[in-house]
Amino acid sequence: MSTDKATLHIEGKEPIELPIRRATLGPDVIEVAPLLKHGYFTYDPGYATTAACESKITYIDGEKGILLHRGYPIEQLAEHSDYLEVCYLLLNGELPTPQQKAEFEDIIRNHTMVNRSVETFFAGFRYDAHPMAMLCGAVGAMSSFYHDSTDIDNPEHRMITAHRLIAKMPTLAAMCYKHYVGQPYMYPNNRLKYAENFLHMMFNTPCETKEINPVVAKAMDLLFLLHADHEQNASTSTVRLAGSTGANPYACIAAGIAALWGPAHGGANQAVLEMLTEIGHEKHIDKYIKKAKDKNDPFRLMGFGHRVYKNFDPRAKIMKETCDRVLAELGKEDDPLFRIAKRLEEIALQDEYFIEKKLYPNVDFYSGIIMKAIGIPTEMFTAIFATGRTVGWIAHWNEMLSAPYRIGRPRQLYTGPAKRDYPVNR
Ligand code: SDX
Repeated sequence: MSTDKATLHIEGKEPIELPIRRATLGPDVIEVAPLLKHGYFTYDPGYATTAACESKITYIDGEKGILLHRGYPIEQLAEHSDYLEVCYLLLNGELPTPQQKAEFEDIIRNHTMVNRSVETFFAGFRYDAHPMAMLCGAVGAMSSFYHDSTDIDNPEHRMITAHRLIAKMPTLAAMCYKHYVGQPYMYPNNRLKYAENFLHMMFNTPCETKEINPVVAKAMDLLFLLHADHEQNASTSTVRLAGSTGANPYACIAAGIAALWGPAHGGANQAVLEMLTEIGHEKHIDKYIKKAKDKNDPFRLMGFGHRVYKNFDPRAKIMKETCDRVLAELGKEDDPLFRIAKRLEEIALQDEYFIEKKLYPNVDFYSGIIMKAIGIPTEMFTAIFATGRTVGWIAHWNEMLSAPYRIGRPRQLYTGPAKRDYPVNR
């Protein structure tokens, strides 16, 4: 990697030379470590301008609406690939040969079951526990099953862990749903493909096994694929930080699930549906656009805006096309929420405020409408996001542990009281 240098001139100080490292794509970086010996930290709340690591997995160009997974554009992967092939690509860096893909699918298929005692763990949740609370707990609990077979310094152990997590997340997510609706758990049927199997575990019961609609199964697979990875987002950064302490990988993924839950992040898909339901009719849209623009009103247009995308989110465009297909297949073309969403997008994208602040629909804006049309309750939306994103989290965790790393430990700008003595005689 060629290096140049930047020189920082501070009045009354010696010039500080800072190495520059070149990127393959996107901004180069200035290494700021030398600042410490000159008595300075950098200051970047929210890390908007901070590269916390080097990575080869995913590249996003927010201005051009580009998303590449190991160099392949998301639009081409969405059209020609499937979720498990993208999992292989994210984990291994290259697309699998047909034989490698078949072997990978077999490995995943043979890890879909969870230990029976996980059912007992679920029994401890309240009947109305939020699926994300259950998923976070259940995945964290998985560390109790594999704490003695996870040598994180062993690449084979790390890959077995990746396979187990990719395979078991749909089973655990479906268990969250079954607990939530008070139905018996459905075991995976390993004759089904990944997304089909998830829908089987979600919607079939011991009393009735229905055929899975292929258009719905394809949409579900695409939902997982579009959520697979997204560079150093909040939950992936959480997984990397937890992983940097050497923590058990299942505990690290549980930390990622916890971070994803927030409505500013993965929880937005549930918040979008709740917002569209609250808007209720196209005639109320202007009122909500006004609220979203009012600095004194905490209301935000959920599913709009992004820290990186300052143009369209390529995933949202694909999600919108998928929405059309699923609603047509299910005879729900005139779904009122979809109508409100499309009208809301049209109005917002012509509004000066959204144009000036570069707020466009993101991945969460249309995904919930697809999931609702399939029959998935809004409370399950983020659990499905987490299921798709697990491969991204574990790929970044694996990438970090595959090279020398240090525990993540940010510093601060301290503006509290200077040293003072305890008032012993007060
Ligand atoms: C995901 O990082 C990732 O990659 C995430 C993700 C992934 O795949 O992992 O893409 C998934 O999390 C998508 C984002 C889902 N969240 C939402 O849809 C929630 C609504 N959006 C916002 O809360 C917000 O846009 C964020 C959190 C997504 C981005 O926040 P930023 O980058 O910190 O931007 P900001 O809050 O500083 O907003 C900039 C300006 C502000 O106005 P000013 O202070 O400059 O006057 O834009 C305004 C904000 O008030 N603004 C909005 C808005 N989003 C930002 N105003 C109204 N509605 C919104 N949705």
